Amino acid sequence: MKKVQVFADKTELGEAAAKQSVKILKDAVARNGYAVWVLAGGSTPLPGYQAVVDKYADALDWTKVTLVMGDERIGPNDGPDNNWHAIDKIIGKIHATKVFPNADQSAEDAAEEYEVQLSVLPKGDAGVPRLDLVWLGIGPDGHTLSLFPNHASLLPSGGLVTAVHDSPKPPADRITLNLRAMQGAEHVMVLATGKDKQKIIAQAVKGNNLPIALVARIVETHEGSVTWLVDKSAAPAD
Ligand code: 6PG
Repeated sequence: MKKVQVFADKTELGEAAAKQSVKILKDAVARNGYAVWVLAGGSTPLPGYQAVVDKYADALDWTKVTLVMGDERIGPNDGPDNNWHAIDKIIGKIHATKVFPNADQSAEDAAEEYEVQLSVLPKGDAGVPRLDLVWLGIGPDGHTLSLFPNHASLLPSGGLVTAVHDSPKPPADRITLNLRAMQGAEHVMVLATGKDKQKIIAQAVKGNNLPIALVARIVETHEGSVTWLVDKSAAPAD
């Protein structure tokens, strides 16, 4: 699979992401009888979730797939900021197992509870849950999930979930899968559209110490793959 894939717009990108993701999930289910898909928050991936529902609702046995929310904003679970709430409106009809946090509590309590929910997932060679497919968004500052540049969210952890405060991207309080959790990622797809992400994509694809590049390096060091799906305005110039 080509490392950087360029699409005309977010709809075409979403359709491609859905098609490639369903193949990865089907292969994982065939191999292990089970697949885990970590979902990205934010707005970019929403057309991709819609494409999965529209075109692939019958493409595999979704009851063998577990959907996991990659990060969540602290606040009402049915509030406008809640990543899972936005995604579930689209994929709610898919009969997968769904693992998402209760964000209507302190970040520490939400992280602790979510850690327990994730601890039952089958582990891979790195001793953390095997994440067959991980969708990631990216911010113009190079953040991904709720891992931010020069921020405590990047500090080493013995767990999988980190409580985040003072997020540069509102809301301030969040929880997130952390760098240790990303050691279990098999296939990562970074989804990015818009001119405001072109510079950071070009830098991150080459490698640097921004969160998205740190995650990519961790994944590839653990024999995982990273694919960058971008629209024309976010595509690296060279
Ligand atoms: C969040 C996301 C965050 C998001 C990026 C891109 O909860 O805010 O996890 O990492 O993926 O900020 O967001 P957009 O896709 O909306 O640009």
